[in-house]
Amino acid sequence: MSTSIESVLHETRVFPPPAAFVAQANVSGQAAYQALLDEADRDPNGFWGRLARENLQWTKPFTQVLDESNPPFYKWFGDGELNVSANCLDVNLVNGNADKIAIIFEADGGEVVKVTYRQLHERVCKFANALKSLGYKVGDRAIIYLPMSIEAVVAMQACARLGVIHSVVFGGFSSKSLHERITDVGASLVITADAQMRGGKAIALKPAVDEALGMGGCEAVRHSIVYRRTGGEVAWDAKRDLWMHEIAEKQSADCPPVPVNAEHPLFILYTSGSTGKPKGVQHSSGGYLLWAKLTMQWTFDAKPSDIFWCTADVGWVTGHSYITYGPLAAGMTQVVFEGVPTYPDAGRFWKMIQDHKVTTFYTAPTAIRSLIKASDANAAHHPKSFDLSSLRLLGSVGEPINPEAWMWYHINVGGERCPIVDTWWQTETGGHMITPLPGVTPLKPGSCTTRLPGITAAIVDETGGDVEAGHGGFLVIKRPWPSMIRTIWGDPDRYQKSYFPSELRGYYLAGDGAQCDADGCFWIMGRIDDVLNVSGHRLGTMEVESALVAHELVAEAAVVGRPDATTGEAVVAFVVLKRSRPEGDEAIAIGKQLRDWVAKEIGPIAKPKEIRFGENLPKTRSGKIMRRLLRVVAKGEEVTQDVSTLENPAILDQLSKPV
Ligand code: PRX
Repeated sequence: MSTSIESVLHETRVFPPPAAFVAQANVSGQAAYQALLDEADRDPNGFWGRLARENLQWTKPFTQVLDESNPPFYKWFGDGELNVSANCLDVNLVNGNADKIAIIFEADGGEVVKVTYRQLHERVCKFANALKSLGYKVGDRAIIYLPMSIEAVVAMQACARLGVIHSVVFGGFSSKSLHERITDVGASLVITADAQMRGGKAIALKPAVDEALGMGGCEAVRHSIVYRRTGGEVAWDAKRDLWMHEIAEKQSADCPPVPVNAEHPLFILYTSGSTGKPKGVQHSSGGYLLWAKLTMQWTFDAKPSDIFWCTADVGWVTGHSYITYGPLAAGMTQVVFEGVPTYPDAGRFWKMIQDHKVTTFYTAPTAIRSLIKASDANAAHHPKSFDLSSLRLLGSVGEPINPEAWMWYHINVGGERCPIVDTWWQTETGGHMITPLPGVTPLKPGSCTTRLPGITAAIVDETGGDVEAGHGGFLVIKRPWPSMIRTIWGDPDRYQKSYFPSELRGYYLAGDGAQCDADGCFWIMGRIDDVLNVSGHRLGTMEVESALVAHELVAEAAVVGRPDATTGEAVVAFVVLKRSRPEGDEAIAIGKQLRDWVAKEIGPIAKPKEIRFGENLPKTRSGKIMRRLLRVVAKGEEVTQDVSTLENPAILDQLSKPV
C-alpha cells in the first residue's frame, strides 16, 4: 500500500467547489449530480440508452441497451453499429470544429506542431487507406509501439477506422515483453518508429521490434510499419518493413469509416495481474467510447475553449481514454507531449502550461512529488515562476495522492482556485469510476470522493456484504457499466475468476482495498493482491520474480513493495543465488547486473530499487515464503509479528541489512 494510511485517515480539510466554477460547470451543483444519480439508479438501462443515443452517432441504432443473459460476459448496445474514428473525427468536420486545432504537439526538444481536425482526419484517412491496401481489415490485430506523437494518435485512429484491433505497447517495454504481447494477441501488423526522443537522447525502438519478431512465434506478422522520428540508421528487412510516410503519402484522403458492432473490440491493452503473465484487457467500441466522451464532459468539464493536457503515455489506458479517444470525441484542443517533465529542466510542465495556455491539466502524483522536490531545490523551476493563470481545473490519476502533494498542487499549480479531480479507475474500467465532479463535489485531499452517476461502486466484505462507513473492505462495482472490460483476450476463464469471484455475488472486484467515510467519500488504501503501483504503473511482483529467476545466477527470488516518497511504491527484491551469498562490492556488482537484467527482461520501470541477498528466504515449515515479513523488513522496520511458524528465523537478520 502506497499511501501512509494513518495520515490519510486523519485528513479533515474540505474544499467546497469554487462558486465561479459551479456557475459555469457542465454538471453544476449537488442537485444536478443527484438527479443523474437518481436517474441511473432508478432505470439504469434507460439512463445509459439515453446517453448513448445523445452522445454517439450510430450507423445502425441499437434496440437493446444491456444484454446480461450470460454474466459476466455483458453486451452493451449489442445490436448497434458505429465507427469510433468517425465519432472522433468526422463529427468534428461538420460541427464547426474542422479548422479548430485538435492537437498541439510539443516534441522533447521543444518544437511545436499543430494539426486541425481537418488535417488529423486527412492523415488518419491516408494511413487507414495504406493499411487497407496492405490487406488489413476488421478483426486483425496490430501492435503499436510508438513514441508519444501525432503519429501514435493517427495509427490508433486509423486502426479504429478499419475495425483493426490495436494493442499499444508502452515504448519503455523490452523486446521480450513486446514479443509476449505480439504472440498473445496474434498480431499480423506492427507499427513502430526508428527511435524516440526522451530527455535529449534518442532511444531506439525498431531494434526491439526486430528482436521480438526474431524470437519465433511471430510468423503471422506480415509488416512492420516504421514512423521516421529521428532519421537515424535502422536495420531494414525489405520484405517486411515499410516507412509510414511513404505508404501514406500516395493514398487518397477519403477513407469511409467501417461500421462495426458496438461490441467489436476497439483495443486490447496488457496490464499486470497477480500471476506472472500480463492480462490482455479487451475493450469494446460503443460502450468504451461513450464513457471516454462523457467523462471528458463530466469530470473534466470539457468546454469548446479549453486546452486540455493529459501527460500520460498512449501506452497506458489513461493515454487511450484521455488522449486518443475522449478529447477528440469531445471536440477539444489538446496538448500531446513527447518528452519528460525534467528536461531540459524541472520547469518543463509549468512552461508548457504557460506557453500553450493550458486550462485543464491531468497528471500523476509521482510527477507532482518529483517536481515538488525539484522546485524546492531550484526556485526557477517552481510553478510560481510561471504564469499559470490559464488553468481552471487539475486532475490526478494512477495512484493515491498524499494530502501533502495534493495541497502543494492546489496552492502552487492551481493557485487555490482550481478544483482537483482525483480520478480513481483502472485499465479494466475504461474510464473514471470514482472522482469529484469539479462543479459539485467538496474536495478532501487524498480522497477520490464519490462515484460517478451509473457507477455502483461500494465497499464490501469477503462475502459481498456491504461494509459500514469507516471500515475497510474490497472495492467493488455492483452492476455492469458500458466501458467495462469485456474479457481477457484468449482467456475468458481468467476474466471470470479474476474479476467476478463467485463469493462476491457477481460484483466486479477491482483488486483495491478501500473505505468510505461518513460522507460517502472513498479512500483508496492500495492493492489487495500481489500487484505493485510504482510511479502510477502497475507491476506484478510475480512478473519481476519470474524475470529474476530466469537469470543464471539466481536460485530463488521474492519481490515486495515498499512505500517510497516519490514513486509511491518501490520494488525491493530478496534474492538467493545458486552460489554463496555475496557481500560488499561483489553484492553491489551482482545487484547491478540483476537490476539491468530485469530492465532487459521487462523494461526499466520494473527495475528493483533495492536487491538484498540471503542464503535463504523466510519460509513456513511447509515451504511458503512469508511475504508479510519481507514487507516489514523491506521498510527497515523491526519484525514484531509472530514468527513461530517460521522455519528459519535467523534469515530475517541477514535480509534486514541493505547491501
Ligand atoms: O490501485 C489503483 C490505482 O491504480 C490501479 C489501476 O492501475 P492501472 O490499471 O494501471 O490504471 C491506472 C490509470 C487509471 C488501481 O487499481 N489507482 C488508479 N487511480 C487511483 C488509484 N489509486 C488511488 N487513487 C487514484 N486516483
